[in-house]
Formats: sequence, structure tokens, C-alpha cells
Amino acid sequence: MIHIAGLHKHYREGGNDNHVLRGVSLDVAKGELVALMGQSGSGKSTLLNIVGALDGDYEGEVVVGGQSLRGLGDKARSRFRNRTVSFVFQQFHLLPHLSVADNVALPAWFDRDERGKDQHARAVALLERVRLGSKVATSPRLLSGGEKQRVAIARALFNHPALLLADEPTGALDSASGALVLELFRETNRQDGLTVVIVTHDPEVARVCDRVIHIRDGRIEPAEGAPAAAGEGA
Ligand SMILES: Nc1ncnc2c1ncn2[C@@H]1O[C@H](COP(=O)(O)OP(=O)(O)O)[C@@H](O)[C@H]1O
Ligand SMILES: [Mg+2]
Repeated sequence: MIHIAGLHKHYREGGNDNHVLRGVSLDVAKGELVALMGQSGSGKSTLLNIVGALDGDYEGEVVVGGQSLRGLGDKARSRFRNRTVSFVFQQFHLLPHLSVADNVALPAWFDRDERGKDQHARAVALLERVRLGSKVATSPRLLSGGEKQRVAIARALFNHPALLLADEPTGALDSASGALVLELFRETNRQDGLTVVIVTHDPEVARVCDRVIHIRDGRIEPAEGAPAAAGEGA
């Protein structure tokens, strides 16, 4: 699902060159549920944004769902963002003046083929799936943090993505709300074969994932027990 080889990312500002990703190589298989862990500032969000085609300014090879993200035109890029990948963020990013159901159906407005096709019914079905069937017409303002995040998950699933990218999705939640959010990721992963990458500091998240990937000093640490790649040893 994800193939990354020799990925470098610099943030250049003024005279500064912040070399954040220093040769990241990584593969994630279709249907995997993986946690991405590393210290604050280690480049986790940067990596996620590149994989989700939010950031195209990098060197190296990034292939997602069979599509190379290098040199993707605007049209192909927005199609990729609408159809292949979805994001869930720590801060939910719901629109407060829309109902919960309209928030869930929001992706339809960016995808002409989906518009008008029983959006509301699909939004309601997804809200039932995230145990919010009773909150369809409510304003997001009236929801708890955990409920808001479940709305964000329903919205992320609306366009049937193949890949879900979550950036510290439980970071703003109490542990009970976080556990339910986590259960929903696990459930969609199992039921739909959705590939999920979760950036997290939370050992509880890492525990339920199939695999934990550690990023450090701009590179992926070798998996435990795996031999270090030639030339990368001490
Ligand atoms: N938009 C940006 N412009 C300049 N520097 C950035 C930007 N985003 C992140 N950085 C820098 O890149 C490094 C990695 O940041 P980030 O990917 O957010 O790390 P993490 O998500 O692991 O905490 C940090 O040094 C951060 O200051
Ligand atoms: Mg981050």
C-alpha cells in the first residue's frame, strides 16, 4: 500500500536548512494497522503529510496505492486526496455551523461523483457505525472530544478510502474515549481491509497495532530482531 525509499525532506527558511527526513525507507502492506512512534519533532507529521499528498516538496520515492506521488498534477493530486487517502487529526477539524451528519458528508462536496448520491443516508450509516446514531442532527459544538473524534472518523470513511492516516488521534482524549476511538480503527481495519497508519505517543495505541515503526534522527529504526541494512551499522 505504501512504498517509500530514500525519502529526504528539508525545511529551508532564511539561511536555515532543517533536514528532517534523512533517507526514510518503509513499506506498509495493504490491510496493515501500524503505529508510527518517535520523539516530538522527529518528523512523524511531516512523513504523514507526504504520504497523504498534502506535501509534495521532497526527494526520494513515495508510492501509495500503486501511484507515485512525485510530479502528480493538480487534478491527479486532488483525486488521490479524495479517493485514496483520508486523514484524522488530533484536533478533529469539524465545522461547527454544520450538523454532525453534514460534517460526515463533507467529502462529497469535493467529489462530483459522490454528490447527491444518498449522502445523508450514508452519513447516518457511518454515524451508527461509530456509535453516534443518536447525534445525527446535533451540532458538533455539543459533543465531547471523544464524540467529535468519532465524527471525524466517520467523515474520513465517507469516500471509501484505501488508506487512513491518523495524526495523534487520541492525543486530546481521555483514556476511555481514546479506547473507543482505537477500537473503531481496529474494527474498520478488520472489516474493510483498510490500511491504517497511526502516529502516536500512546503505548496503548501501539499495543493494538500489528506493527510499531520507530522514527529516530530522520530515519526508520530497524525492526527488532531484523539485521541492520548493509552500511547502516555502527
Ligand atoms: N511547515 C513547517 N515549516 C518549517 N519547519 C517545519 C514545518 N513543519 C515541521 N517543521 C519542523 O520539522 C521538524 C519535524 O516536525 P514534525 O514533522 O511536526 O514532527 P513530529 O510530528 O514528529 O512532532 C521539526 O523540527 C519542526 O520544527
Ligand atoms: Mg506531529
